[in-house]
Amino acid sequence: MNIMSTMNYVKCFLRDRNVASITPTSPFGVKRVCKKIDFSTANVIVEYGPGAGVFTEYLLKKMRPTAHLVLIERNPDMFKCLQESFRDQRVHLFNDSAENVGNLVNGQLPHKPDYVISGIPFSYIDQQARQDIIQQTHEVLADKGKFLAYQTFYQKDDHLFVHLEHYFKQVKSEFELLNIPPMRIYEAMK
Ligand SMILES: C[S@@+](CC[C@H](N)C(=O)[O-])C[C@H]1O[C@@H](n2cnc3c(N)ncnc32)[C@H](O)[C@@H]1O
Repeated sequence: MNIMSTMNYVKCFLRDRNVASITPTSPFGVKRVCKKIDFSTANVIVEYGPGAGVFTEYLLKKMRPTAHLVLIERNPDMFKCLQESFRDQRVHLFNDSAENVGNLVNGQLPHKPDYVISGIPFSYIDQQARQDIIQQTHEVLADKGKFLAYQTFYQKDDHLFVHLEHYFKQVKSEFELLNIPPMRIYEAMK
């Protein structure tokens, strides 16, 4: 598997403000988020904003052979690179926005998603679209499903935390310092 080079990632970052982070998530960050996933039971996982594919690569190593991974990436260069890197029958890849998750997922797979993982920059998304993404995420998830979102550590609660609390039964947040910049990780349970 040949995931996007650092140089190409930085080029995407410079051209598209929605890429938002100058480096992909560190292995520590990836493991910290994915620790919250039970790979032995997960049938469907959705990833918003896979970017260079550091989470995607880890998820595919851990997921069962019969599971499905839906990738929704808005940036066309990232999308092309993901298409070339992840030729795996479990992957369903869309060059689209997380705002369309309902249309992309509902009725398309044998199970509802158990987990949605998100690296998209909620602080750059306007209030209406942000709420819409969170509401749709809650709707598409299976009962007891989880929304796992990671953001930069200094993000204010009104960018994401309060919106998650509005839709989800329980929301926890924690920090991972071994990432540039450090991450705030949200775990929202349906
Ligand atoms: C901070 S980067 C994270 C990349 C990767 N997941 C990682 O952890 O290294 C954000 C990614 O989300 C994508 N993105 C931003 N807004 C999006 C949206 N509304 N829907 C889908 N992807 C989006 C960007 O193109 C970029 O690939």
